[in-house]
Amino acid sequence: MDNTIESLKSTVADLNREIATAHLLSTSEAEEFRVHYLGQKRGIITQLFKVIPHLPKTDRREAGQLLNALRNTAQSTLAEAHSKVAKDSTAASQIDLTLPGRQHRWKGSRHPISLALTKITDIFNRMGFNIAEGPEMEDDWHNFTALNFPDDHPARDMQDTLFIDEGHQHSSHILMRTHTSPVQIRAMLDGKPPFRLIAPGRVYRNETITYKSYCLFHQVEGLVVDEGVTMADLKTTIYSFAQSFFGHDVKLRYRPSFFPFTEPSAELDVWWELPDHPNGGRWMEVLGSGMVHPNVLQAVGIDAERYTGYAFGMGVERPAMLHYGIQDIRVLYENDNRFLSQF
Ligand code: PHE
Repeated sequence: MDNTIESLKSTVADLNREIATAHLLSTSEAEEFRVHYLGQKRGIITQLFKVIPHLPKTDRREAGQLLNALRNTAQSTLAEAHSKVAKDSTAASQIDLTLPGRQHRWKGSRHPISLALTKITDIFNRMGFNIAEGPEMEDDWHNFTALNFPDDHPARDMQDTLFIDEGHQHSSHILMRTHTSPVQIRAMLDGKPPFRLIAPGRVYRNETITYKSYCLFHQVEGLVVDEGVTMADLKTTIYSFAQSFFGHDVKLRYRPSFFPFTEPSAELDVWWELPDHPNGGRWMEVLGSGMVHPNVLQAVGIDAERYTGYAFGMGVERPAMLHYGIQDIRVLYENDNRFLSQF
């Protein structure tokens, strides 16, 4: 620097501008600022004071005033920064980071039926089953005829069918599906064996509405078709499902039953502990199952000499009700927030 009052003035003007725009947000930025401008050894302003003795005598007084003013500006900028940083950190220290977060009052939750359905489909996904779907509005052929229900079979009435349109012939009736078994038919018509699928969905029945029955509910259908599939495969699959779903020490009972579309047929019961029940509990039916009837394979054009298969179908509401201690099926369909927000 050349030692004239003019060059000192212009340096001081630059520094004033610099300091005016300094943005000091933290203790460390303030400290950097202090060392840079006011540091005892190499601070810019400190250095400038050393120029004074080298100026002409007449200019020294003015130079001293200029530099004092500059130093004051730098010091007050620094002091302001210190007090601002201190204030911010007291504000921050008043936030208690150990408090639990506030829950939003109207946060949604998953419906108990969805929770049970997810749990069931997860278990079968892990066992290599794919998911298939079919329409809730069906025709008689997929819901009954292809599933080997004879025309005059009482099962057609047994299932309390909700008809949409009663055509001239049985097989052309349009109805709400009474079970998920018609998805077996649709899946087999759509593809070629082997099949290994489950079909979760809603089903409808024209039943009197009570605490334990409703006009709609959910089922999960299962279907496996391949060469050499046996009843032992069926039993192994549904036992490992039941153990995953209900727990490994669950008590199970597999007993003969009847369905037109499986032969032989069997139902799986689960022992349900009830401490205040006279017998300590009761058997609860969880699913129907059996070996796919050859007539069903023939109806969808699969060679019943070469292929065999098994099928099962389970309800979703009943296990969900037992699992969550729900006494009345109707609450599952009323969408009352006081009920739903408990899940
Ligand atoms: N569809 C039967 C029902 O609704 C259950 C079932 C499915 C039985 C598959 C056997 C095989 O009761």
